[in-house]
Amino acid sequence: MNVDLGNALAAEASPGISRENLERLDERVAGAHERIEAGIEAREHGYAALALPETVDTDAIAAAVEPFSDSEAVLTVGIGGSALGAATIADALDSDVEAYFLDNVDPEQVTTLLADLPLASTTVNVVSRSGTTAETLANFLVVRDAMADAGVDWTDRTFVTTGESGPLRELADRHDLPSLPVPDGVPGRFSALSTVGLACAAIQGHDLDALVAGAADQRERLSDSLFDSPAYAYGAICYALDVRGASVNAMLPYAESLETFAEWFAQLWAESLGKDGLGQTPARALGATDQHSQLQLYRAGPRDKMVTFVRPRERADRAIPETEFEALSYLGGTGLGDLLDAEFEATEASLAAAGRPNVRVEIDRVDERGLGELLYAMEAACVLAGELYGVDTFVQPAVEWGKNAARGLLGGGDFPEADAVDAKRTLR
Ligand code: PA5
Repeated sequence: MNVDLGNALAAEASPGISRENLERLDERVAGAHERIEAGIEAREHGYAALALPETVDTDAIAAAVEPFSDSEAVLTVGIGGSALGAATIADALDSDVEAYFLDNVDPEQVTTLLADLPLASTTVNVVSRSGTTAETLANFLVVRDAMADAGVDWTDRTFVTTGESGPLRELADRHDLPSLPVPDGVPGRFSALSTVGLACAAIQGHDLDALVAGAADQRERLSDSLFDSPAYAYGAICYALDVRGASVNAMLPYAESLETFAEWFAQLWAESLGKDGLGQTPARALGATDQHSQLQLYRAGPRDKMVTFVRPRERADRAIPETEFEALSYLGGTGLGDLLDAEFEATEASLAAAGRPNVRVEIDRVDERGLGELLYAMEAACVLAGELYGVDTFVQPAVEWGKNAARGLLGGGDFPEADAVDAKRTLR
């Protein structure tokens, strides 16, 4: 993986950062790296996620899902960090086992999805670190009911990944469901490369070891200088541009297969760094599609943004046929991939020419190894940015507030957050 900062360091970039200032920031990166290494070493909460290339047991994951090797489809029931890592991998890589995701509790979408699924040959992969998340548990209750209605023994087709205690763990134990634990110290949005993200990948037959090898490669490249570590280079430039005014970070992959990666990144960045009045707002985009919608704003709107371009250096191309129309002759004989690359380079150059800061992130290919590199590097970038901002990267009090309020409103316990919602209702 390579990170090119040239268009953020250029003299005309505004906001931008000079090479001298980036070198000064590198002294803080060295201090942050020391803190991160100590956290990884001690497997501290959150930092433990960056130890996953050493600690994750891919053989155990493969063995645990072995009973589901006959699956035609896998339906992951989870939300936020318990779904987005698996969804990123599933949407990026081809498999004969179709992956579906139920995160939201929109009744119409749930009903439509369940009507379309081959329930008798679908594995239900239920994932919740806490085992208490209302959306996940509600969706699971609906799914198992639908399976029973279809004459399918849901206990034969359900796999659970959850913590050591909580209602989901109790349910798994009571019905003797095959399950995996969530590793200690790995928050949801940092769990793509753990049991949480990899169980679905294993059911789909992806190469878990190659995913972990990609991550291990980036782990080895963490060092006390951002100039030697792609992950830290990215985390440091985002932080530096944000404090100079780029409060929005538009994630723009040029590969349809990485569209969900932008969604995963948005959660990682927002939930980890949005604290104490700080943090950079992630925007989700897709090249070349969003050149025809958001790009106008990125090039000519407020100077409050940076753009992150992501692309694979290689991809399978598809030839564009020759045509009888003279006006289209420039297309014939090239490939759709050539066109996508031309769009990428033109957009990057156009933003640079307008002095809009942008960063290029490249992986060799969208395969297991490339994805492992990308996911790990972005997580390490986020941890570094958290150290530079001085925020508590690994907590999510705003998310917990909403979860407690919703549970309390539905009568699922005594939560002060629900009282606050009730008080607001009374005022209306
Ligand atoms: O990153 C996080 O902590 C959250 O997005 C959680 O993953 C999400 O709220 C789901 O929580 P749980 O896995 O406990 O069901």
